[in-house]
Amino acid sequence: MELEIDLSTRPEVTPFFDPQSNTISYVVREPGGPACAIIDPVMEFDPAAGRLTYDSADQMIAFIREHGLRLDWIIETHVHADHLSGAPYIQEQLGGKIGIGEHVQEVQDVFGKIFNEGTEFQRDGSQFDKLFSDGDSYTVGGMVGHALHTPGHTPACMVHVIGDACFVGDTLFMPDGGSARADFPGGDAGQLYDSIQRVLSLPDATRLFICHDYGPGGRAISWETTVAAQKAENIHVGGGKTREEFVAFRTARDAELKVPSLILPSLQVNMRAGDVPEDEDGNMVLKMPLNKL
Ligand SMILES: [Fe+2]
Repeated sequence: MELEIDLSTRPEVTPFFDPQSNTISYVVREPGGPACAIIDPVMEFDPAAGRLTYDSADQMIAFIREHGLRLDWIIETHVHADHLSGAPYIQEQLGGKIGIGEHVQEVQDVFGKIFNEGTEFQRDGSQFDKLFSDGDSYTVGGMVGHALHTPGHTPACMVHVIGDACFVGDTLFMPDGGSARADFPGGDAGQLYDSIQRVLSLPDATRLFICHDYGPGGRAISWETTVAAQKAENIHVGGGKTREEFVAFRTARDAELKVPSLILPSLQVNMRAGDVPEDEDGNMVLKMPLNKL
C-alpha cells in the first residue's frame, strides 16, 4: 500500500525513558495546536514486591497538563513482552482512545491458552477502543496518522506514521542496535525483514522514533534516527543485506536470547489493553503458569 507521507507536517515529539525496561514512550504533539497522542506508555512493575507504580505515566500526564494539551490517542505499537502498559492509568485521567493492531486477536488467542483464561477473557480485541487495520488513518487534531501492519517481531505489530515522524515500535532499533527479536509466539524473521523494508521505503528524511534502546557499547541512550541512516548503517539490515542473510542471522541470534524477565506479567496485562486481571474479591492478581513458554 502506497502511503501519502506529509513531510511538511513536523509534530513535536517528546520522549520519556523508562530505565527498568529501556522503553521510550512518546508524546506526539500537533505543532501549534492542542492535540496530542501518546505512544507506548509504561507502568512500572517490581516483580519481587508485586508492586505497580506510575512514575513514567505521571510524568507524561504532568507534561500534557502543563502544556494544556488534549489527549486524542494512546497507541500501543504492539503487545509488549518486556513492560506493562500504562494506558488505562493515563486514560482514566486524560481520556483518549486506546488503539492497537487488529491482529492482537492472534496474540490473545495464543496467550489466552498459555494463561488458561476462561471464556470471560474475550479474544476479539474488544478491550481496546480501536483496532487498526493495515493502511488505516486517523487524526491527531489537524495531523493525519497512518497505521502500517509490520508483523515479524509479533503478529500484531504496527508502525505509526504521523507527518514526518514514524514510530517504529519493535521493528528497528537504533542503527547500532539493529532489529528486534522474532522468536516470540507468532514471530517470524522473514516477515520482520519484509516489515523493515516497508519502513525503509518511507522517504529518507522521515524521522524514526524507536521503542527500545540499550545503549550498545556504553553510548548514551538515544531514540531518534532517520530512514537514510538506517538504510546506510543499521547493523542487521543496512547496506542492502538480503532477506536470507537477515533470517539466518536473526534466527541464530534469537536462539541465544533469554526470555524477557517480565514477559508473563506483561502479556497478561497488555493483552487486556493494560488492565490488570482481578480475583473474585476484586484484588489485582497475576498468574505464573509454569513450563508453558
Ligand atoms: Fe516488543
